[in-house]
Amino acid sequence: MRIESIGLAEHLGSLKIHGVRRVLELDSGARPLLEEIPEVQKIEKEAIEDIERRMAIVLPIRNEDLKVFEGVLSGVPHDCLMIVVSNSQGGEVDTFGNERDILARFCHATKRQALIVHQKDPVLAESLKQADYGELLDEDGLVRNGKSEGMMIGILLAMLHGKDYVGFIDTDNYIPGAVWEYVKHYAISFSLAKSPYAMARILWRYKPKMAGELFFKKWGRVSEISNKYINHLLSTKKRFETEIIKTANAGEHAMSIELAKRLTYGSGYAVEVQELMSIFEQFGGILPITDKTVAEKGVELIQTETINPHLHEERGGEHLVQDMLLPSLSVIYHSPLCESSTKQLIFNQLLEQECLKSTEEVPQMRLIPPPQKANMEKFAQAIEAKLPEYSVPKGRMLRERFISAEFGGAGAAKKVVFTDLDGSLLHPLTYSYTQALDALRLLQEREIPIVFCSAKTRAEQEVYREELGVKAPFIVENGGAIFIPRDYFRLNFAYDKAIKDYLVIELGTPYQEVRRKLKKAVEEETGCRVIGFGDMSVEEVARETGLSLRRAELAKQREYSETVKIEGDKKRVNKVIKKIEQAGLNCVFGGRFYGVTAGSDKGKAVKVLAELFKLNLGKIMAIGIGDNDSDLPMLSMVDLPILVQVQRNRWRKLKLRHVRKVRGVGPEGWSAAVRELVANQAQQ
Ligand code: GDD
Ligand code: MG
Repeated sequence: MRIESIGLAEHLGSLKIHGVRRVLELDSGARPLLEEIPEVQKIEKEAIEDIERRMAIVLPIRNEDLKVFEGVLSGVPHDCLMIVVSNSQGGEVDTFGNERDILARFCHATKRQALIVHQKDPVLAESLKQADYGELLDEDGLVRNGKSEGMMIGILLAMLHGKDYVGFIDTDNYIPGAVWEYVKHYAISFSLAKSPYAMARILWRYKPKMAGELFFKKWGRVSEISNKYINHLLSTKKRFETEIIKTANAGEHAMSIELAKRLTYGSGYAVEVQELMSIFEQFGGILPITDKTVAEKGVELIQTETINPHLHEERGGEHLVQDMLLPSLSVIYHSPLCESSTKQLIFNQLLEQECLKSTEEVPQMRLIPPPQKANMEKFAQAIEAKLPEYSVPKGRMLRERFISAEFGGAGAAKKVVFTDLDGSLLHPLTYSYTQALDALRLLQEREIPIVFCSAKTRAEQEVYREELGVKAPFIVENGGAIFIPRDYFRLNFAYDKAIKDYLVIELGTPYQEVRRKLKKAVEEETGCRVIGFGDMSVEEVARETGLSLRRAELAKQREYSETVKIEGDKKRVNKVIKKIEQAGLNCVFGGRFYGVTAGSDKGKAVKVLAELFKLNLGKIMAIGIGDNDSDLPMLSMVDLPILVQVQRNRWRKLKLRHVRKVRGVGPEGWSAAVRELVANQAQQ
């Protein structure tokens, strides 16, 4: 595509508002041999496609003509994920069922996958409640009517599916080619935006009216009025008259998820105007800035004008004035930014339009808090079972697991290091970490979280945390539980108990239960005795492990797993392990002993904790460092698994497809791995 280069732009605090740009050419062909002129920008197909793959298109629908709906579907570019949120009639005249069928047929024929959900689905409502996002619900406990409520559900589902962008398209559009063009506009806007916090809004070149003969009117009436008062409000703030906003009511618009999740939305048709107000309020530099990261990168508002005309279902003057004009002007009027001069003008306009009597007050619209308030973990958990039903084709879940890593949107992934202790950060024989100290400091200087993931107990790990100044959450006893310092994460999450200054997520079975099962499985069935730390005195543990008496005492403070010695030849050892596993326990070799857990392993714990990091930090890159069998589940779960040597020039053979093997036993290898990691980061 070719578009006019950025001409006019205005700044308001950390917000940059681009003046409307025209698209010059919908298809700009292959790479040119000639140099582009500065007035024109060409956006390559690949750049557009890359954004489309990362974008969800939300299609709100309420009892629209089904033929028109079908046309809209065919206009949405193939690589976008379509999310249909319907508030159509169900029951005898099952319009919703018909929409579903049409979508299913379309996806079957075009080899696409999509989602369709009914706004009034009770499970959806319950999931929102679980996620502490009940603001979308009515007194009857179901999601309220309204296009914006439908949009909000679409945003949440887009977040759940790890999309970076979300765009909206009305389903009453008669021209599939226009739909196609809108989505292209979204993609080019995001590919031109420098900030990860961007919004694309569309201005229709012509909006034809069917009044006897087709008349191509340039703008919708409501939009014209809303633009006028928004620009008036901006002029009072900037002390310069401006007409920069031309898309106040743009139903066709899109946002990066990073921006979408931070905005406050208006109920019903106030939604598009309220989005702008929320941006001005939060990032316009007039009210105190709440989000520093966003302020640093800036927010961009990009407006483009389409070539195709906008031809949609007309709903009559009453709808325009009562459902659209009044809510639109109300959110401007009630914004904390709105000064009395603008308020007066709005009031007069509403009187003139007969929306209000002179004795009445401007009614206030209901506001919906930013989607980032929703606890996505809980939302995902509550809605998961229903996803196969929402998916088209039915039963085919779009993603096996929710990759909320992509919540982060554009921008580099933040590194998080998950590390084993014994044999990795600590020397396999001496338990010394000296050789890793410098590298550890490198991570700390860069604020890269260091997550211990070890067979060691909480008490043992606390000593190392203290000695090394490590502050991140930690995984104890081969995945038995995750201990998270109380204020570590910004967003709330579900935990099982709170102890000291930790919130604890328990994944494994309690220690005594593990011991009972273990004894039963082995001693009763094989007649062999397994000796665990629970059977040994502190002195014995110290002797067996080479730990000091003090450390041995901490190692005995087990909560979720037992550490056992299995003696005898290979055959006997294998037989015992088999029995343990048959009893539903996990048994993994950690280098000296076997760790026995029930219900969890290091991998499960890493997965849960990584999700929490993603939720709070956005995109992450999980790095795992280990040395032995017990690290396999952890290493299979991370983005970059690293293996240190168990002995000089020898690595443990693990079934991993991609693994980075570093030279050096234990902390020496650990140090090499981290240096490599940090050096790579510097090059990026
Ligand atoms: N899910 C859902 N729930 N969808 C709804 C609901 C609802 O309660 N109500 C309406 N929709 C769908 C419609 O089916 C249509 O696809 C879309 O939302 C827009 O609704 P219309 O009723 O067609 O709105 P409009 O044409 O008057 O106004 C449109 O253009 C304005 C100007 O650009 C909307 O997009 C406005 O939001 C926009 O300001
Ligand atoms: Mg419409």
